[in-house]
Amino acid sequence: IIVDVSRPLFPVSPTLYGLFFEEINHAGDGGIYAEMVRNRSFSDAVIPARCRPKERNVFHSPSAKGFDILMPEGDLPGWHLFVEGPRKAEMSADDLEFLAPGNPRSLRLEVGEGSGSAGIVNEGFWGMSFVAGESYRLTVFAKSPNVKPFSLKGALLDGKGHAIGQTDLQPIEEGEWVRYEAVIQASATDAAGKLQLATADAGTHWFGYVSLFPVNTHKQRPNGLRPDLVNMLKGLHPAFLRFPGGCFVEGFSCETAYDWKATIGPVHLRRGHWNLWQYRVTNGLGFHEYLELCEDIGAAGMYVFNCGITCQMRGEEFMSLEKVESLIQDTLDAIEYATGPVNSVWGAKRAAAGHPEPFPLKYLEIGNENMGPEYEKRYKMFYEALSRKHPELILIANEKMEHARVDVIDDHFYAHDGYFHTLSGKYDKADRRGPKVYVGEYAVVGAGAGRGNLRGAVGEAAFLTGLERNSDVVTMSSYAPLFVNVNDRSWNPDLIQFDNRRVCGIPSYYVQKIFAENAGDQVLDIKVECPVEEGATSGGVGFGTWQAISEYKDLKVVSSGGEVLYENPLTGDFKGLKPSSGKWEFHDGALRQCEYGQNHLCLLEDKNWKDYTVTCRARLIEGNGVM
Ligand code: AHR
Repeated sequence: IIVDVSRPLFPVSPTLYGLFFEEINHAGDGGIYAEMVRNRSFSDAVIPARCRPKERNVFHSPSAKGFDILMPEGDLPGWHLFVEGPRKAEMSADDLEFLAPGNPRSLRLEVGEGSGSAGIVNEGFWGMSFVAGESYRLTVFAKSPNVKPFSLKGALLDGKGHAIGQTDLQPIEEGEWVRYEAVIQASATDAAGKLQLATADAGTHWFGYVSLFPVNTHKQRPNGLRPDLVNMLKGLHPAFLRFPGGCFVEGFSCETAYDWKATIGPVHLRRGHWNLWQYRVTNGLGFHEYLELCEDIGAAGMYVFNCGITCQMRGEEFMSLEKVESLIQDTLDAIEYATGPVNSVWGAKRAAAGHPEPFPLKYLEIGNENMGPEYEKRYKMFYEALSRKHPELILIANEKMEHARVDVIDDHFYAHDGYFHTLSGKYDKADRRGPKVYVGEYAVVGAGAGRGNLRGAVGEAAFLTGLERNSDVVTMSSYAPLFVNVNDRSWNPDLIQFDNRRVCGIPSYYVQKIFAENAGDQVLDIKVECPVEEGATSGGVGFGTWQAISEYKDLKVVSSGGEVLYENPLTGDFKGLKPSSGKWEFHDGALRQCEYGQNHLCLLEDKNWKDYTVTCRARLIEGNGVM
């Protein structure tokens, strides 16, 4: 292998490595959003008719749920009745009473006369994880017209149903719905925990909202995030965070499309909505919380919004151009919320929510994966209005269009690993006159990729060298999807896997980390002569690509013929450096850790990885007279 380094060409894009968060696989609710109660507003089984098709819709996952098994738990998923002693009690969903119109149900509990108590139990998102000594904040909105306020006891239960913490709830706000709050400390650790609410008062009681958060959320925020998952994001040093989707923003209909205005304000009043990834979201992780997350992890915000087109997975619906006008106004309002002065209408709401300073919103993407003439019409309307009012923001399009100005285009790639090696050359001949490219979604998928493995990671690494090498054109990239709760996989693979207490990156996570941590400063002119030997390839793919970085010292090499690479020394002709050849050392340990780390969730599905894959970062060894 001969590497010929001649001169610096251009800086590596400082925004090349970012993140794409979508509310898919319970990434938000039951994921990074630390709410422990599933179906806290009792409306999870309210599914709009358009979202109940007969056909199965299985994505890349062999374990994906079909739409036909939606809501096997009945009208009140997550909730069970609890009766103690000789009492009689019944629980049902009630459409006539509710706390917030956007969540049109409550739980009605009928408790008969007698001794003992009765109540309801929530099972959380596949169990609640309690830790001994940790405290949990319980909030309940309930009403009971004949007993005001009624007695209510909150208890944390372990997996066997024993109380590991309990307290009598005190009403803290009167009204039609009474607000109760308490902090309960867990005396034991259990990951299969539940929350129980019990009363000794006979009568009819309604529950409109029940919420339980660990006190120790990220930055101790009451409506906060899981610190372990936030730390995984920080570990990738992202330049930006795209949110909240994906197809999630499109929805299957106007009513299931993302509406940012429903996602701000008091959490118990926020309207939830049906997510096309087959669960209802609370929107507790709302526009404000996404922007806060961007700020917390040092990333610029990239807000992707619905541009008047619903998701192509169920036959697109094109909203009228009048509706598009109102969506444009919504987007302008969103920008004002994020960055406007505190005396503006929406900036004032941001300040009232505790954040007078502007958030770091920098990018807007007009639609998600929308194409064709109907998209072009809508895109132009948005582009015109947004660029006029906010020239400081970078606007991203879903495709190149003949009659519309496009500054940045969002390319998506999901394919097998062999294709990803080929894709590493995709932008070598890209038109340098523009538009710039944002590779907004990519991942090795398909049979060989499973739930994430080294084969996929190496394919992505090869691809990334091509992005870095062309980062005068490709200025940004983000892997997708980002998160999966292992109990609800709609898509495989996903970068970060978790359950209610553990988290682990798949090998692709470590590729992202290595690349982001070693992005380098300058792209160098590199000519590669690569004699591909018999047996040095896998899947018909030769050696990957090369990227020289970081003050001329480092070189990224990605190969699908790892053993051969180790056996054959890499030699270089380094013009401008002395002497003209050097010895190279390979570093690839980081990728292995994630498979063998303690407490891991990440299973390497192909045990023969040594035979065909290795990803290396090569460093020219200093101190041997080379530099
Ligand atoms: O990343 C999963 C999905 O893939 C996204 O929602 C969509 O944009 C793409 O088709």
